[in-house]
Amino acid sequence: MKKSVFVLSLFSACVFAQNTIPIPDTLTGINISLTMHTDSMSILPGKYSQTLAYNSAFHFLGPTLILNKWQTVNATVTNQIGDTTTLHWHGLHVAPKNDGGPHTQILNGASWYPSFTIMNHASMYWYHPHFMGKTAEQAIKGASGLIIIRDSAEAALTLPRKYGIDDIPLIVKCLQLDSNNQFLPKGMQDSTLLVNGVTNPQFNLPAQVVRLRLLNGSGERTFNFGFTGNKSFYVIGNDGGLLNAPVLTTRIRLSPGERAEVLINLTGMNGQTIYLMSYASELLMGVQGGPTMPMPPGSPPMNSPLDGINFNILKLNVIAQTSNPVTTIPATLIPVTPYPQSQANLTRNITFTADSMMVMDGPFYFNGLSFDMMRIDYRMPLGQTEIWTLFDSTMVAHPFHVHDVQFFVLDRDGNSPPPQEQGWKDVVLVQPNETVRIIMKFTDFTDSTIPYMYHCHILMHEDDGMMGQFEVMPQGWAGIKQVSGNTEQVSVYPNPVNSVFTIQTINSEKIDNISVFDLLGNKVLEIKAINAERVGIDISSLSIGQYFIQAITSRDVVNKKIIKE
Ligand code: C2O
Ligand code: CU
Ligand code: CU
Repeated sequence: MKKSVFVLSLFSACVFAQNTIPIPDTLTGINISLTMHTDSMSILPGKYSQTLAYNSAFHFLGPTLILNKWQTVNATVTNQIGDTTTLHWHGLHVAPKNDGGPHTQILNGASWYPSFTIMNHASMYWYHPHFMGKTAEQAIKGASGLIIIRDSAEAALTLPRKYGIDDIPLIVKCLQLDSNNQFLPKGMQDSTLLVNGVTNPQFNLPAQVVRLRLLNGSGERTFNFGFTGNKSFYVIGNDGGLLNAPVLTTRIRLSPGERAEVLINLTGMNGQTIYLMSYASELLMGVQGGPTMPMPPGSPPMNSPLDGINFNILKLNVIAQTSNPVTTIPATLIPVTPYPQSQANLTRNITFTADSMMVMDGPFYFNGLSFDMMRIDYRMPLGQTEIWTLFDSTMVAHPFHVHDVQFFVLDRDGNSPPPQEQGWKDVVLVQPNETVRIIMKFTDFTDSTIPYMYHCHILMHEDDGMMGQFEVMPQGWAGIKQVSGNTEQVSVYPNPVNSVFTIQTINSEKIDNISVFDLLGNKVLEIKAINAERVGIDISSLSIGQYFIQAITSRDVVNKKIIKE
């Protein structure tokens, strides 16, 4: 009898044990080193799950970078995963060559050395891989980490900022594991919830005003965050900075890639327990994680038991106050003024499309086009302000993300966005049949060879081609012609070629710059400052195969294909 009681309690301890969430170690200073490696960890009973992480202290995720506005960062990013990767600083305003998009590959065993100045407002950003076709696999296996930026405006406010004590980073991921406990990056039956990498998570919070920094780091699921009993809280910031003033609410919806900072007042609650929850029953149908849709017969199973229900995410035990607790909520924060619509020089329409109305798992497209590393979708001159009108014609909601900029949401179906969405943003969720207009300005960085990305942050949609790219051109660039296919402006001969080919403009424009790319989009040759109508280029050292030549002239950017034999 005694024995069976013992076995029973051991069993329940295994099943119901709460894990205290780890608070990721921090890195600060100018020199930041991240080494990505393969690892494993125990998530569910049974086999260990194969993971990816940054730096040896981590089996999953990576360190939190704590950086100051205007400081320099000299990073060393080393790849030890046995596969190609890239590292993107999501939300940071950096030059294209430092952005870590799909064109900036880090081969296995190699290091990448980006160097940049922090120009963003105080907020929480994050880093993750961005290698074409493998972003979902690598990020979902754990390759991601946080970036907290501090600045003097934020420092002047009375806000909790003791990292891990009253200022808590929370990386929420929901994943699908197969029967061997291995990650299924494209699985849509995600039901394993991890907070900072652990299941059944709990944390102790002091009985005072506490700041939670939330990242939805999932591949697909949207969370509708709230607390037990609809306890109210204040949203103080979103993706790219603090709001004008705290917004009192009971919900904050975050789609993949979005962040929010909230203040919750736990004063007087010592000894109580509350849960951070997702009120997913309130999400619209079509938002992944929301109520499930009727499925066409024969479709693969796509629903998770968490879809459309309200569930607990993190147990919060309220403990004694710290010394010098923050106990008040500031009345105002940082003045934020959206770009005026009258400043916009251009409106672009981006419609989210699919092969048919019935498609729920992709592929999805922008304006019917799948991503092509060799096609630049948009070019804009430096300093231009643009409105992008996003319309979702599919059955599924898509979190739309733009690199380089922080934008403002102008309206949703013509109505002002909710107050917690009125600050600096870099991801916005667009729901089926909804029109969302965003306004942004392209400043500081130009590059006519490495583009910035815009894409859906549902990682399987991104990997399947729901991505496009843009180049910010030097100020005054006339933007004469759209780019791809505009091949009549130059001639290339001989083609096929085995050593030297000639490229010549037809209308006696001067060629500035020529780049040669292989089929994977890797730049294999670049010649700058040519300033001639005709130039011979020796490619005898390249291996046999097809290449793309990109010629930039004073008026245009022209792509041509060439065969090396
Ligand atoms: Cu979170 Cu293109 O990235
Ligand atoms: Cu990004
Ligand atoms: Cu999508």
